[in-house]
Amino acid sequence: MNGVNLFVANWKMNMTRAQARAYAEDLGSRIGDGFDAGELVLAPAFTALEAARDPRGRWALAAQNLSDHAAGAFTGEVSATMIAEAGCRYVIVGHSERRTLFGEDGPLLARKLARAREAGLVPIYCVGESQRERAAGSTAATLARQAEALADDPEDRPLVVAYEPVWAIGTGLAATPADSAAAATGLRKILASRRDLRVLYGGSVNPGNARQLLQGGGVDGFLVGGASLEAATFAAIAGAG
Ligand code: PGA
Repeated sequence: MNGVNLFVANWKMNMTRAQARAYAEDLGSRIGDGFDAGELVLAPAFTALEAARDPRGRWALAAQNLSDHAAGAFTGEVSATMIAEAGCRYVIVGHSERRTLFGEDGPLLARKLARAREAGLVPIYCVGESQRERAAGSTAATLARQAEALADDPEDRPLVVAYEPVWAIGTGLAATPADSAAAATGLRKILASRRDLRVLYGGSVNPGNARQLLQGGGVDGFLVGGASLEAATFAAIAGAG
């Protein structure tokens, strides 16, 4: 934990450049000279990174994905260096949609983490159990297995881990603060040697549950999907603590 809460808006495959510009203007007018209850991050599609950038630096940018290769003949891929040069401080790695829809797994994600570090990006590494794993009582084992991709990640660098139970993503059914706290405690134990670790919760966060989750969920902020698509709602979530 480094003491500064982090609120990340994961826009997924939403928001054109024009929409991103309007959102940035709206968010900027809501936070005025700055947001003092933590750090704000927007994670747009690659095409909208520039449009979502705040020239005043009141929020940072994250990419939603990156290539596991450094450069070369990989049509359609985007490298960590390109992402860093585009102004990103963070990159989301291993989001459950990447894992389930695109078959991303441990060794691939470990390579992506390595590429992110080479470019100086801070990974937001996502973990989370499926409904079936939860029902089988194997949540802790799943998180431990997913955390293995961090084995070679340098311990002295800042790291963000997002606990995102798959059953809570986009379902309207958020984890309880107790569920979140149990997972966060387990992750902090596994990653106890990290010098600068922040654990986020993600999965159906909204302005109505944010405060409870932030106060009782053992986390340092949120990774927000659907509810981040309106600047007003995202700002309300970030300001809920
Ligand atoms: P959600 O998505 O807030 O829409 O549940 C969270 C995420 O996928 O990061």
